[in-house]
Amino acid sequence: MKIVVAMTGASGTPYGLRLLRLLARMPVEVHLSLSESAAKVLAVEEEVNVDLARFDVVSLLGDTAENIRYYHYKDLTAPMASGSAKLDAMVIVPCSGGSLGRIANGVSDDLITRAADVFLKERRKLILVTRETPLSLVHLRNMVAVTEAGALVMPASPNFYHLPKTKEDLIDTVIARIFDQLGIQSSIIRRWGEQREVEPFP
Ligand SMILES: Cc1cc2nc3c(=O)[nH]c(=O)nc-3n(C[C@H](O)[C@H](O)[C@H](O)COP(=O)(O)O)c2cc1C
Repeated sequence: MKIVVAMTGASGTPYGLRLLRLLARMPVEVHLSLSESAAKVLAVEEEVNVDLARFDVVSLLGDTAENIRYYHYKDLTAPMASGSAKLDAMVIVPCSGGSLGRIANGVSDDLITRAADVFLKERRKLILVTRETPLSLVHLRNMVAVTEAGALVMPASPNFYHLPKTKEDLIDTVIARIFDQLGIQSSIIRRWGEQREVEPFP
């Protein structure tokens, strides 16, 4: 399986990093791109400085990952920019309101929005893990537009019924749903119904 992972400038970079770290251990090929704003948010949220021009996966993930191929967000010659490249699914995580708006309106002005445009036109799986609150009517209309065009909008909404104890547990409640949508088997969280009975609310 070949998966495009893009990170844009919304809060929620730990979701993107966790997804990449898990995919790095799986028999999949990952094509990765980060927007300029994603690098800025990474510096704030993860205290990591990513040089987009001289990217190295170790500086992002703290480890090597042979199956991750990186492409600069302005490199429109990357495979993901063309429908003829056989890539199976694309996940934008986190997806900013800005990227959502450009994708909803067909503004393919960088590699990430162009790739999303390609996935829509080729009717391939496109997952937008959006993060913004509250939502304006503009955001909501853009979500409707991309949904009508075939994308899946999956707001980064962690759940609490898996009784997360750490930040990582909380992140995994979102990542598990992304894996479900990608059709990737994972056991990072116990499925509802497989866990112990939860005490009824008083
Ligand atoms: C620390 C930080 C956090 C941000 N969080 C969000 C957010 O949660 N959602 C969002 O839509 N934009 C957020 N932004 C604003 C976007 O980064 C900005 O709109 C940017 O132009 C998006 O560009 P991109 O979509 O090309 O990455 C944030 C910016 C910074 C610096």
